[in-house]
Amino acid sequence: MEGAKSSPPNTRIAVVTGGNKGIGFEVCRQLASGGATVVLTARDETRGTAAVEKLKGLGLPDVVFHQLEITDASSIAGLADFLKTRFGRLDILVNNAAIGGVEYVHELDTDEEKFSGLDYHQRLEWLEKNVNESVDAAKQGVQTNYYGTKHVIEALLPLLQSSSDGRLVNVSSEYGLLTVINNEEVRQELNGIDNLTEKRLDELLDTFLKDFEAGGTGEAHGWPTGFAAYKMAKVAMNAYSRILAKRHPELRINCAHPGYVKTHMTMSSGVLTPEEGAHNVVKVALLPDGRPTGLFFALGEEASFV
Ligand SMILES: NC(=O)c1ccc[n+]([C@@H]2O[C@H](COP(=O)([O-])OP(=O)(O)OC[C@H]3O[C@@H](n4cnc5c(N)ncnc54)[C@H](OP(=O)(O)O)[C@@H]3O)[C@@H](O)[C@H]2O)c1
Repeated sequence: MEGAKSSPPNTRIAVVTGGNKGIGFEVCRQLASGGATVVLTARDETRGTAAVEKLKGLGLPDVVFHQLEITDASSIAGLADFLKTRFGRLDILVNNAAIGGVEYVHELDTDEEKFSGLDYHQRLEWLEKNVNESVDAAKQGVQTNYYGTKHVIEALLPLLQSSSDGRLVNVSSEYGLLTVINNEEVRQELNGIDNLTEKRLDELLDTFLKDFEAGGTGEAHGWPTGFAAYKMAKVAMNAYSRILAKRHPELRINCAHPGYVKTHMTMSSGVLTPEEGAHNVVKVALLPDGRPTGLFFALGEEASFV
Protein backbone atom coordinates (compact mmCIF):
# COMPACT_ATOMS: atom_id res chain seq x y z
CA MET A 1 0.00 0.00 0.00
CA GLU A 2 1.62 3.26 -1.13
CA GLY A 3 2.16 5.73 1.69
CA ALA A 4 2.10 3.17 4.49
CA LYS A 5 5.17 2.47 6.60
CA SER A 6 6.45 -0.82 5.27
CA SER A 7 9.29 -3.34 5.48
CA PRO A 8 9.79 -6.06 8.10
CA PRO A 9 11.30 -4.61 11.31
CA ASN A 10 14.64 -6.42 10.92
CA THR A 11 15.22 -5.37 7.34
CA ARG A 12 17.71 -2.57 6.88
CA ILE A 13 16.54 0.36 4.80
CA ALA A 14 19.31 1.73 2.58
CA VAL A 15 19.50 4.73 0.26
CA VAL A 16 22.16 4.96 -2.43
CA THR A 17 22.69 8.17 -4.40
CA GLY A 18 23.68 7.88 -8.06
CA GLY A 19 22.52 4.27 -8.07
CA ASN A 20 21.77 3.93 -11.77
CA LYS A 21 25.27 2.96 -12.92
CA GLY A 22 28.89 2.35 -12.00
CA ILE A 23 29.81 1.76 -8.38
CA GLY A 24 26.44 3.02 -7.10
CA PHE A 25 24.48 0.44 -9.08
CA GLU A 26 26.70 -2.33 -7.73
CA VAL A 27 26.35 -1.01 -4.16
CA CYS A 28 22.57 -1.28 -4.62
CA ARG A 29 22.88 -4.82 -5.95
CA GLN A 30 25.17 -5.98 -3.16
CA LEU A 31 23.11 -4.38 -0.37
CA ALA A 32 19.91 -5.85 -1.79
CA SER A 33 21.58 -9.27 -2.17
CA GLY A 34 22.44 -9.06 1.52
CA GLY A 35 18.78 -8.59 2.41
CA ALA A 36 18.43 -4.80 2.68
CA THR A 37 15.52 -2.91 1.21
CA VAL A 38 17.26 -0.52 -1.16
CA VAL A 39 16.02 2.84 -2.37
CA LEU A 40 17.98 3.26 -5.60
CA THR A 41 18.08 6.94 -6.42
CA ALA A 42 19.08 8.61 -9.67
CA ARG A 43 18.70 12.10 -11.07
CA ASP A 44 17.18 10.76 -14.27
CA GLU A 45 13.93 8.83 -13.84
CA THR A 46 14.35 6.73 -17.00
CA ARG A 47 17.88 5.63 -16.12
CA GLY A 48 16.87 5.00 -12.50
CA THR A 49 13.81 2.88 -13.22
CA ALA A 50 15.77 0.89 -15.83
CA ALA A 51 18.39 0.12 -13.16
CA VAL A 52 15.69 -1.00 -10.71
CA GLU A 53 14.16 -3.27 -13.37
CA LYS A 54 17.60 -4.75 -14.03
CA LEU A 55 17.98 -5.59 -10.33
CA LYS A 56 14.48 -7.06 -10.19
CA GLY A 57 15.45 -9.18 -13.19
CA LEU A 58 18.37 -10.48 -11.12
CA GLY A 59 15.90 -11.74 -8.51
CA LEU A 60 16.11 -8.73 -6.17
CA PRO A 61 12.54 -7.53 -5.58
CA ASP A 62 13.26 -5.26 -2.59
CA VAL A 63 14.61 -2.35 -4.60
CA VAL A 64 12.55 0.78 -5.16
CA PHE A 65 13.31 3.83 -7.23
CA HIS A 66 13.16 7.43 -6.09
CA GLN A 67 14.34 10.40 -8.09
CA LEU A 68 17.19 12.39 -6.55
CA GLU A 69 19.19 15.21 -8.07
CA ILE A 70 21.62 16.03 -5.28
CA THR A 71 22.03 19.67 -6.32
CA ASP A 72 18.28 20.33 -6.19
CA ALA A 73 16.80 21.20 -2.78
CA SER A 74 13.24 20.26 -3.76
CA SER A 75 14.36 16.89 -5.10
CA ILE A 76 16.20 16.20 -1.81
CA ALA A 77 13.13 17.25 0.19
CA GLY A 78 10.98 14.94 -1.96
CA LEU A 79 13.20 11.97 -1.11
CA ALA A 80 13.16 12.83 2.61
CA ASP A 81 9.33 13.01 2.58
CA PHE A 82 9.10 9.69 0.73
CA LEU A 83 11.39 7.92 3.24
CA LYS A 84 9.60 9.41 6.23
CA THR A 85 6.18 8.31 4.99
CA ARG A 86 7.19 4.92 3.62
CA PHE A 87 9.69 3.71 6.24
CA GLY A 88 9.82 6.26 9.08
CA ARG A 89 13.59 5.80 9.33
CA LEU A 90 16.80 5.21 7.37
CA ASP A 91 19.47 2.68 8.41
CA ILE A 92 22.13 3.16 5.73
CA LEU A 93 22.88 6.16 3.54
CA VAL A 94 25.55 5.69 0.87
CA ASN A 95 26.50 9.02 -0.68
CA ASN A 96 27.90 7.79 -3.95
CA ALA A 97 26.73 10.34 -6.56
CA ALA A 98 29.53 12.52 -7.89
CA ILE A 99 31.04 13.98 -11.05
CA GLY A 100 34.62 14.40 -12.23
CA GLY A 101 34.59 18.20 -12.04
CA VAL A 102 36.33 18.27 -15.42
CA GLU A 103 35.42 18.27 -19.10
CA TYR A 104 36.08 14.94 -20.74
CA VAL A 105 37.96 15.19 -24.02
CA HIS A 106 36.56 11.94 -25.47
CA GLU A 107 33.16 10.37 -25.61
CA LEU A 108 33.10 7.48 -23.19
CA ASP A 109 34.90 4.60 -24.79
CA THR A 110 34.46 1.35 -22.95
CA ASP A 111 37.21 -0.34 -24.90
CA GLU A 112 39.37 -1.44 -21.99
CA GLU A 113 41.86 -3.10 -24.33
CA LYS A 114 43.69 0.15 -24.89
CA PHE A 115 44.75 0.14 -21.23
CA SER A 116 46.17 -3.35 -21.22
CA GLY A 117 49.89 -3.19 -20.46
CA LEU A 118 49.51 0.13 -18.63
CA ASP A 119 50.09 0.11 -14.88
CA TYR A 120 48.03 1.98 -12.27
CA HIS A 121 50.00 5.23 -12.54
CA GLN A 122 50.16 5.18 -16.34
CA ARG A 123 46.38 4.78 -16.45
CA LEU A 124 45.88 7.70 -14.05
CA GLU A 125 48.32 9.77 -16.10
CA TRP A 126 46.33 8.95 -19.27
CA LEU A 127 43.11 9.95 -17.52
CA GLU A 128 44.46 13.28 -16.31
CA LYS A 129 45.78 14.08 -19.80
CA ASN A 130 42.40 13.38 -21.37
CA VAL A 131 40.35 15.91 -19.43
CA ASN A 132 40.13 19.71 -19.42
CA GLU A 133 40.01 21.51 -16.10
CA SER A 134 37.65 24.36 -16.93
CA VAL A 135 36.44 26.82 -14.31
CA ASP A 136 32.76 25.95 -14.94
CA ALA A 137 33.39 22.24 -14.52
CA ALA A 138 35.42 22.87 -11.36
CA LYS A 139 32.61 24.95 -9.83
CA GLN A 140 30.07 22.29 -10.74
CA GLY A 141 32.33 19.63 -9.23
CA VAL A 142 32.49 21.42 -5.88
CA GLN A 143 28.75 22.18 -5.93
CA THR A 144 27.81 18.59 -6.68
CA ASN A 145 30.39 16.54 -4.84
CA TYR A 146 30.64 18.60 -1.67
CA TYR A 147 27.59 20.82 -1.30
CA GLY A 148 25.12 18.45 -3.00
CA THR A 149 26.22 15.56 -0.79
CA LYS A 150 26.19 17.78 2.30
CA HIS A 151 22.63 18.91 1.60
CA VAL A 152 21.50 15.29 1.19
CA ILE A 153 23.09 14.44 4.54
CA GLU A 154 21.46 17.40 6.28
CA ALA A 155 18.02 16.42 4.98
CA LEU A 156 18.32 12.71 5.79
CA LEU A 157 20.12 12.98 9.14
CA PRO A 158 16.90 12.99 11.24
CA LEU A 159 15.84 9.75 9.50
CA LEU A 160 19.21 8.14 10.27
CA GLN A 161 18.75 9.25 13.88
CA SER A 162 15.40 7.42 13.91
CA SER A 163 17.29 4.18 13.24
CA SER A 164 18.74 2.17 16.13
CA ASP A 165 21.93 1.73 14.04
CA GLY A 166 22.18 4.59 11.56
CA ARG A 167 25.15 4.41 9.21
CA LEU A 168 26.43 6.96 6.75
CA VAL A 169 29.08 6.12 4.17
CA ASN A 170 30.49 8.89 2.06
CA VAL A 171 32.13 7.44 -1.01
CA SER A 172 35.46 9.19 -1.03
CA SER A 173 38.73 8.77 -2.87
CA GLU A 174 42.45 8.58 -2.43
CA TYR A 175 42.19 11.91 -4.27
CA GLY A 176 40.62 13.25 -1.05
CA LEU A 177 43.64 12.50 1.14
CA LEU A 178 45.30 15.55 2.66
CA THR A 179 48.51 14.78 0.77
CA VAL A 180 46.89 16.21 -2.39
CA ILE A 181 47.29 19.69 -0.84
CA ASN A 182 50.76 21.11 -1.18
CA ASN A 183 50.47 23.59 1.70
CA GLU A 184 51.41 22.41 5.19
CA GLU A 185 49.38 25.09 6.99
CA VAL A 186 46.15 24.23 5.15
CA ARG A 187 46.79 20.52 5.58
CA GLN A 188 47.21 20.95 9.33
CA GLU A 189 44.09 23.08 9.54
CA LEU A 190 42.05 20.45 7.70
CA ASN A 191 43.45 17.73 9.91
CA GLY A 192 42.72 19.68 13.12
CA ILE A 193 39.21 18.34 13.44
CA ASP A 194 38.69 19.66 16.98
CA ASN A 195 38.90 23.26 15.72
CA LEU A 196 37.72 22.92 12.13
CA THR A 197 34.26 24.30 11.30
CA GLU A 198 31.90 23.95 8.36
CA LYS A 199 32.22 27.72 7.83
CA ARG A 200 35.98 27.37 7.48
CA LEU A 201 35.51 24.56 4.95
CA ASP A 202 33.26 26.90 2.93
CA GLU A 203 35.93 29.61 3.07
CA LEU A 204 38.68 27.24 1.94
CA LEU A 205 36.57 26.01 -0.99
CA ASP A 206 35.74 29.62 -1.97
CA THR A 207 39.41 30.57 -1.87
CA PHE A 208 40.37 27.50 -3.87
CA LEU A 209 37.81 28.32 -6.59
CA LYS A 210 38.88 32.00 -6.71
CA ASP A 211 42.55 31.02 -7.04
CA PHE A 212 41.63 28.38 -9.62
CA GLU A 213 39.73 30.96 -11.65
CA ALA A 214 42.52 33.52 -11.39
CA GLY A 215 45.42 31.22 -12.12
CA GLY A 216 44.10 28.43 -14.26
CA THR A 217 44.87 25.81 -11.61
CA GLY A 218 45.70 27.56 -8.35
CA GLU A 219 48.83 25.42 -8.14
CA ALA A 220 50.93 28.35 -6.90
CA HIS A 221 48.83 28.45 -3.70
CA GLY A 222 49.40 24.78 -2.97
CA TRP A 223 46.00 23.65 -4.17
CA PRO A 224 45.78 20.26 -5.86
CA THR A 225 46.35 19.77 -9.57
CA GLY A 226 44.92 17.12 -11.90
CA PHE A 227 41.19 16.76 -11.09
CA ALA A 228 41.78 19.72 -8.75
CA ALA A 229 38.13 20.49 -7.93
CA TYR A 230 37.30 16.81 -7.49
CA LYS A 231 40.19 16.50 -5.05
CA MET A 232 39.20 19.62 -3.09
CA ALA A 233 35.57 18.49 -2.85
CA LYS A 234 36.61 15.06 -1.55
CA VAL A 235 39.08 16.62 0.91
CA ALA A 236 36.25 18.82 2.21
CA MET A 237 33.85 15.86 2.34
CA ASN A 238 36.34 13.85 4.38
CA ALA A 239 36.78 16.72 6.83
CA TYR A 240 33.02 17.29 7.07
CA SER A 241 32.50 13.56 7.73
CA ARG A 242 34.94 13.75 10.64
CA ILE A 243 33.20 16.84 12.05
CA LEU A 244 29.82 15.10 11.75
CA ALA A 245 31.08 11.89 13.34
CA LYS A 246 32.18 13.87 16.40
CA ARG A 247 28.87 15.70 16.55
CA HIS A 248 26.77 12.56 16.17
CA PRO A 249 28.31 9.73 18.18
CA GLU A 250 24.94 7.95 17.95
CA LEU A 251 25.62 7.33 14.23
CA ARG A 252 28.43 5.60 12.40
CA ILE A 253 29.85 7.99 9.83
CA ASN A 254 32.76 6.88 7.68
CA CYS A 255 34.42 7.52 4.32
CA ALA A 256 35.21 4.77 1.82
CA HIS A 257 37.64 4.83 -1.10
CA PRO A 258 36.45 2.15 -3.52
CA GLY A 259 39.73 1.88 -5.47
CA TYR A 260 40.46 2.92 -9.06
CA VAL A 261 37.44 1.53 -10.86
CA LYS A 262 36.44 1.07 -14.51
CA THR A 263 33.42 3.40 -14.74
CA HIS A 264 32.26 6.38 -16.79
CA MET A 265 34.06 8.69 -14.36
CA THR A 266 37.43 7.14 -15.21
CA MET A 267 36.56 6.48 -18.87
CA SER A 268 36.98 2.79 -18.00
CA SER A 269 40.68 3.30 -17.26
CA GLY A 270 40.52 1.85 -13.72
CA VAL A 271 41.99 -1.39 -12.48
CA LEU A 272 38.99 -2.73 -10.53
CA THR A 273 35.54 -3.76 -11.72
CA PRO A 274 32.52 -1.84 -10.38
CA GLU A 275 31.67 -4.99 -8.43
CA GLU A 276 35.05 -4.95 -6.68
CA GLY A 277 34.88 -1.21 -6.03
CA ALA A 278 31.36 -1.49 -4.61
CA HIS A 279 32.42 -4.35 -2.35
CA ASN A 280 34.91 -1.95 -0.70
CA VAL A 281 32.05 0.47 0.00
CA VAL A 282 29.50 -2.10 1.15
CA LYS A 283 32.03 -3.57 3.57
CA VAL A 284 32.13 -0.20 5.35
CA ALA A 285 28.34 0.17 5.28
CA LEU A 286 27.98 -3.24 6.93
CA LEU A 287 30.78 -2.98 9.51
CA PRO A 288 30.05 -5.23 12.48
CA ASP A 289 28.31 -3.65 15.45
CA GLY A 290 30.44 -1.57 17.77
CA ARG A 291 33.00 -0.56 15.18
CA PRO A 292 34.32 3.01 15.37
CA THR A 293 33.16 6.06 13.47
CA GLY A 294 34.84 9.05 11.81
CA LEU A 295 37.30 6.92 9.84
CA PHE A 296 38.64 6.62 6.31
CA PHE A 297 38.66 3.20 4.70
CA ALA A 298 40.68 2.48 1.57
CA LEU A 299 39.84 -0.71 -0.34
CA GLY A 300 37.74 -1.81 2.64
CA GLU A 301 40.53 -1.42 5.21
CA GLU A 302 41.00 1.33 7.80
CA ALA A 303 43.51 3.91 6.54
CA SER A 304 44.68 7.45 7.24
CA PHE A 305 42.96 10.67 6.13
CA VAL A 306 46.43 12.10 5.63
N1 LIG B 1 35.70 5.23 -10.45
C1 LIG B 1 36.72 5.41 -9.63
O1 LIG B 1 37.86 5.01 -9.91
C2 LIG B 1 36.49 6.09 -8.31
C3 LIG B 1 37.59 6.23 -7.45
C4 LIG B 1 37.41 6.83 -6.22
C5 LIG B 1 36.16 7.28 -5.86
N2 LIG B 1 35.11 7.16 -6.72
C6 LIG B 1 33.81 7.65 -6.29
O2 LIG B 1 32.84 6.64 -6.47
C7 LIG B 1 31.56 7.24 -6.66
C8 LIG B 1 30.88 6.66 -7.88
O3 LIG B 1 31.66 6.96 -9.02
P1 LIG B 1 31.64 6.10 -10.36
O4 LIG B 1 33.04 5.87 -10.71
O5 LIG B 1 30.71 4.97 -10.22
O6 LIG B 1 31.07 7.19 -11.37
P2 LIG B 1 29.97 7.13 -12.53
O7 LIG B 1 29.94 5.80 -13.17
O8 LIG B 1 30.21 8.32 -13.34
O9 LIG B 1 28.59 7.30 -11.71
C9 LIG B 1 28.29 8.48 -11.03
C10 LIG B 1 26.85 8.43 -10.56
O10 LIG B 1 26.55 9.67 -9.91
C11 LIG B 1 25.38 10.21 -10.52
N3 LIG B 1 25.33 11.66 -10.39
C12 LIG B 1 26.22 12.56 -10.87
N4 LIG B 1 25.81 13.81 -10.56
C13 LIG B 1 24.62 13.68 -9.90
C14 LIG B 1 23.71 14.61 -9.34
N5 LIG B 1 23.92 15.93 -9.42
N6 LIG B 1 22.62 14.12 -8.70
C15 LIG B 1 22.40 12.80 -8.62
N7 LIG B 1 23.22 11.87 -9.16
C16 LIG B 1 24.33 12.32 -9.78
C17 LIG B 1 25.43 9.73 -11.96
O11 LIG B 1 24.17 9.87 -12.59
P3 LIG B 1 24.03 10.00 -14.19
O12 LIG B 1 24.10 8.61 -14.74
O13 LIG B 1 22.70 10.63 -14.34
O14 LIG B 1 25.15 10.86 -14.67
C18 LIG B 1 25.86 8.29 -11.72
O15 LIG B 1 24.75 7.53 -11.31
C19 LIG B 1 31.81 8.74 -6.74
O16 LIG B 1 31.59 9.32 -5.46
C20 LIG B 1 33.28 8.82 -7.08
O17 LIG B 1 33.86 10.04 -6.67
C21 LIG B 1 35.26 6.58 -7.94
